[in-house]
Amino acid sequence: MKQDLLSFASWETSQVTALIELALEIKNTPEKYQSVLAGKSIVGVFEKPSLRTRVSFDIGINKLGGHFVYLDSKANHLEGREAVADTAANLGCWADAIVGRVFKHSTLEGFTAACDIPVINALCDLYHPCQGLADFLTMTETFGDVSQTKLAYIGDGNNVTHSLLIVGAHLGAEVVVITPESFEVDQSIFEQAQLIAKGTGAKLSYSNHLNDAKGSNVLYTDTWLSMGDDTPLSTIKQTFMPYQINQQLLELTGASHVMHCQPAHRDLEITSNVMDSKHSLLLQQAENRMHAQNAILATLLG
Ligand code: CP
Ligand code: NVA
Repeated sequence: MKQDLLSFASWETSQVTALIELALEIKNTPEKYQSVLAGKSIVGVFEKPSLRTRVSFDIGINKLGGHFVYLDSKANHLEGREAVADTAANLGCWADAIVGRVFKHSTLEGFTAACDIPVINALCDLYHPCQGLADFLTMTETFGDVSQTKLAYIGDGNNVTHSLLIVGAHLGAEVVVITPESFEVDQSIFEQAQLIAKGTGAKLSYSNHLNDAKGSNVLYTDTWLSMGDDTPLSTIKQTFMPYQINQQLLELTGASHVMHCQPAHRDLEITSNVMDSKHSLLLQQAENRMHAQNAILATLLG
């Protein structure tokens, strides 16, 4: 039976730990994996813009011997010409997997129901699992055993935050999410992550207070306004500015590293000064998107 990756919440912990190991192996010995996707075609359906996700899937699939077809559904709207389910059913006639970046999680659920090929979530309103996996790969490279590591996510509780909680839960990490009031993570997703954490000893929490980031190894942030949110920046800037990642916050918390999934807004959620400093893991995160995704593809299609 096919397996999808809409969120790691429905994956076994052993599968997630195996993905981290496989990603490291693919990164360190790429020559062994050159033909894993030989003869396979993967279609990317993107309703939103992308730099890292689109390019890392395309180049990554090429490195594994496969073929990537990019469908720009911003130009050719998914809904309208035909039903979304019909699009997915047709893609299933030719392709070996769909990589989908969509506005609504339910669109991905529609894809999975309509075809027999794996569907991989490349970001939706609720999750960004490829990002979460790549980030814990980066933390594994940096700190070794992530079960001994504390990650403080600071800013807007969003799709990236949810995936960090879920992957962190599988890997037994400590993850604290610190947001302004009313910008907390989705409660039901937090509970999903807590269920996983019960089996692994992960420590998950959320708060509105920056002091709870003290003792962290890493401070992580993301944009204050996700794609599709047209709230004017001016209305939320005052609320979020105290949650900016800057030198002062690094000193308060004692964290050695900073992370951001990018695209970053310099001098809003993170200062340029910190982003360009020796504390930054941002480009390692970006590189690891490809290795993490290649591990996912090799597992689902190899
Ligand atoms: N981090 C990330 O998903 O970047 P893109 O939006 O550029 O793909
Ligand atoms: N939370 C951001 C992540 C971008 C990679 C968004 O959804 O726009």
